[in-house]
Amino acid sequence: MTGRIGRAIVSLADRVALVTGAGRGIGRAIALRLAGEGAAVVVNDIDREAAEETVERLRAAGGRGVAAEGNVADVAACEAAVAAAEAHFGGLDILVNNAGLTADGWLHKMSDQTWALTYEVMLKGTFQMCRAAAHLLRVAKGVVPTHHRKVVNIASINGIYGVAGNTNYSAAKAGVIGLTKALAREWAPQQINVNAVAPGFIEGTRLTAVRGEGEVLGNPGGDPGQDPSLDPHWSGWEAGGRGGGGRLPLLARLRLCHRPGDRGPWRKGVH
Ligand SMILES: NC(=O)c1ccc[n+]([C@@H]2O[C@H](COP(=O)([O-])OP(=O)(O)OC[C@H]3O[C@@H](n4cnc5c(N)ncnc54)[C@H](O)[C@@H]3O)[C@@H](O)[C@H]2O)c1
Repeated sequence: MTGRIGRAIVSLADRVALVTGAGRGIGRAIALRLAGEGAAVVVNDIDREAAEETVERLRAAGGRGVAAEGNVADVAACEAAVAAAEAHFGGLDILVNNAGLTADGWLHKMSDQTWALTYEVMLKGTFQMCRAAAHLLRVAKGVVPTHHRKVVNIASINGIYGVAGNTNYSAAKAGVIGLTKALAREWAPQQINVNAVAPGFIEGTRLTAVRGEGEVLGNPGGDPGQDPSLDPHWSGWEAGGRGGGGRLPLLARLRLCHRPGDRGPWRKGVH
């Protein structure tokens, strides 16, 4: 299947993608878009029903996909998701590290648990997924790769500017940006294109929905340490002086697709 994104004609018909946290929100939109461009998609989410619903939707639209339930903070779950890509579709070309959550609170009241939660899922989870996928994304020494492979890490504008009441999330996302920059250099010789996307506020996802008291989004079980009265997304725009990122359809701008036979230039960085 071919499609047009910006000025580039893209074809992902023979590509395999894995999207974490793709049971809803941004991850689901990415999974559906990749499937719509022809890629086979492994849909990871900690929420099995949500992951299966995404797979149902992409199949209903004529796409190929399989659900891989699992917590990206868990090494075994990361390895299982990658194994699903190989078992069902024969490999992996595109990894999107999207799974994320907020657990907001003032730093002087923040529990160790609340601090660790965002780090475990977003920074450590991204590291673990990249490491688990390395043997499928990288080629053996001396082998000339036939096509680009892609890693896209979903960071946040919070990781660039910082947001009050959101130190744990902002630090984790800043870490994702640092990891991305270093891995882009490390894997460039392998023709693996590693980028981060740092969206502003995107309406309509669970993460940005109004929260219930004591609820930690994206993490069933919750953590009573957070302060649900905080809304760091909005305060962040004021503090950072930047506008929000917009609505889900703007995800079409994410650099997830590539031209057939495209060999460069190597774009590295945070978009
Ligand atoms: N919505 C925004 O305004 C915004 C802005 C900047 C960055 N982001 C980032 O975009 C990503 C997606 O956010 P969203 O707004 O779509 O949120 P969302 O809550 O709608 O979706 C997140 C998905 O990730 C899943 N998830 C949570 N923890 C997981 C784990 N440990 N393992 C596997 N799956 C897990 C959830 O079940 C959920 O389906 C996150 O990394 C978030 O930090 C969002």
